[in-house]
Amino acid sequence: MKKDFFKDPKIKFPAYEPWISNEDKKIVDKTLNQSMLTLGPQLEKFENNFSKYSNSKYAIAVSNCTAALHLSLMALGIKKNDEVIIPDLTFVADANAILACNAKPIITDINKENFFLSIQNIKKNITKKTKAIIPVHIYGQVCNIEEIMDVAKDNNLKVIEDCAHAVGTFHNSKHVGNLGSTGCFSFYPTKNITTAEGGMVITNSEKIAKKVRQLRSHGMTKSLQNRYSNEYPWVFDILEPGYNYRLDEIRSALGITQLKRIKKINELRKKASLYYFKNLQNIPGIILPDMVNDLTHSYHLYTIRVTKPYKLSRNQLFKKLKDNGIRTTVYWMPIHKYTAYQKFAKKSNVVNTSKIYEEILALPLFPNISKTHQDNVINVIKSL
Ligand SMILES: Cc1ncc(COP(=O)(O)O)c(C=O)c1O
Repeated sequence: MKKDFFKDPKIKFPAYEPWISNEDKKIVDKTLNQSMLTLGPQLEKFENNFSKYSNSKYAIAVSNCTAALHLSLMALGIKKNDEVIIPDLTFVADANAILACNAKPIITDINKENFFLSIQNIKKNITKKTKAIIPVHIYGQVCNIEEIMDVAKDNNLKVIEDCAHAVGTFHNSKHVGNLGSTGCFSFYPTKNITTAEGGMVITNSEKIAKKVRQLRSHGMTKSLQNRYSNEYPWVFDILEPGYNYRLDEIRSALGITQLKRIKKINELRKKASLYYFKNLQNIPGIILPDMVNDLTHSYHLYTIRVTKPYKLSRNQLFKKLKDNGIRTTVYWMPIHKYTAYQKFAKKSNVVNTSKIYEEILALPLFPNISKTHQDNVINVIKSL
């Protein structure tokens, strides 16, 4: 086991450890010898492999999932003063991507049982300005995407699926991200596959794919290959200014070997999740996520709820685990609690999230977590 990254000598059991194999190291090393370190063959291969794996027509790799969300919104024409519905329980990236388009995030409540966007609350929040919804496949489970697609269709809204947790999450044999206009993935170090930082947009629309690809590299109308294969490499046009959201060759290479292991990675995550499920049964007040019969899950996070009959509050349990050398954390503080986003929330839209937030705690989970690691977590939770 690696030493605690934050140098706390008391920590024996981290919340997460990346899995970097020898094959990962070899491909990175080999790629470092290329004559061009961006927009090259590794990127092309990673995109092709991801598109095949997710069964989507197009996959465009970007620098992170926030960039994927931002470019998806731009490609769908989201602009100043448009409103976009997001769950209150999600990462700030969703709100930030919307604000980057000068549009307005509409913070919407979740269902208590499954943490998905509340359809009732979505309907309450739709106005003439609403243009899109960003549902999140939270913790790796398929969200209520069909109901969301129905509401979106009835109200002429676009859907961008936040698949940051969902590499390997399937809905009726279809990889998530294929139901909405785009699906946005994250390869941040804790995610199911990692490129250190990285992201991907998938889509089945040629028009969206073309626009995302252009906006990823400043809005250039010609690819690097195209520019250097023709007479004057510096001659290209910009139709709409874009960004530098490229995923370089080194990270793309890492994505190739990581994606090759996705089946194994998710199997190991599932095994560890089931171990928690089996060993944390019947503890009054501890509510477990039901993953046992879920064949569609990517098992990204194992988030329990710490509720009243349990002798400690969530915060007290967090501290107790930490005192025993175990790191845990909470995904996330609700969006409405941040100073920057308070103005986008109404009290009636954050009732369930406010309650759930006090209860949730994500236990350590990663592919190579040991039984000893999990037993220590289980024993502390059971010891009360
Ligand atoms: C649900 C969700 N959406 C978006 C993101 C943003 O991902 P990235 O860090 O790759 O920009 C994250 C990152 O943790 C996330 O958890």
